[in-house]
Amino acid sequence: MISRPTYPEKLFQFIASKTPCHDLAWDVGTGSGQAARTLAGIYKNVVATDTSPKQLEFAVKLPNITYQCTPPEMSISELEQTVSAESSVDLVTSATAMHWFDLPNFYQQVKWILKEPDGVIAAWSYTKAEINASAANALLQKLYDDSDPYLDPRARFFLHDKYRTIDFPFQPVDGLDHTGPLEFKMEWLMDLDDCFAFIKSWAHYQAAKDTGVELLHDDFVQDFTRAWHEDGNPKKIATFRINLRIGKVGNGSK
Ligand SMILES: C[S@@+](CC[C@H](N)C(=O)[O-])C[C@H]1O[C@@H](n2cnc3c(N)ncnc32)[C@H](O)[C@@H]1O
Repeated sequence: MISRPTYPEKLFQFIASKTPCHDLAWDVGTGSGQAARTLAGIYKNVVATDTSPKQLEFAVKLPNITYQCTPPEMSISELEQTVSAESSVDLVTSATAMHWFDLPNFYQQVKWILKEPDGVIAAWSYTKAEINASAANALLQKLYDDSDPYLDPRARFFLHDKYRTIDFPFQPVDGLDHTGPLEFKMEWLMDLDDCFAFIKSWAHYQAAKDTGVELLHDDFVQDFTRAWHEDGNPKKIATFRINLRIGKVGNGSK
């Protein structure tokens, strides 16, 4: 059973079409390597970093992905040792992770490591799920509302802002006159167990639990299960909107 939606191939193809070379990608905040494994099919090599050794343990191992556990902020010399040399990376990605970073420090690293002028940074996140079954969807949206107080403020900001107002000091990639957000659709055909696993994978589900609040309490589980089975179809489509910011480093950024 998977507990997170899978990013669409179309997203990666779009991003990869904006980097002239496909030698090296750096996926920051890789988690269990969700984005890294698709990038590994497009780029010769991928360095995938995360601050959590536990997340990295679950990452899919592929011969052209190097996983590295890093501190939250790296010096340039640590970056060079752990990821790569100055001006050597074609693409930096951050999949549903950039809201945790210290952005000024992160952007400085991105500008240092990307090939000048065409190296690209692509950062995306996704919105709340919508389920194609009205009663179950209404309960899910209520659960999102009820869980809002347990969201980390940075995650809440990005969930509501959808990467619209975030500082993103990069130049539009070829073919665009802005750096986004661009919207992509992501769908997940899920059964009820997938849906519960997805909810339990939220950081704020765990945060609520840590304060003694079980968001999936018996009444909710009962009502949601009933609503899920109302139309007799065990599978539902959950739709998420991905918001992508994409830009290139340009000249004279170092
Ligand atoms: C929501 S998860 C996303 C994981 C994965 N990219 C995905 O799309 O499924 C965010 C990840 O960012 C990592 N993270 C948080 N702060 C970080 C930092 N400063 N540097 C690198 N990774 C960080 C967390 O450990 C976590 O694995």
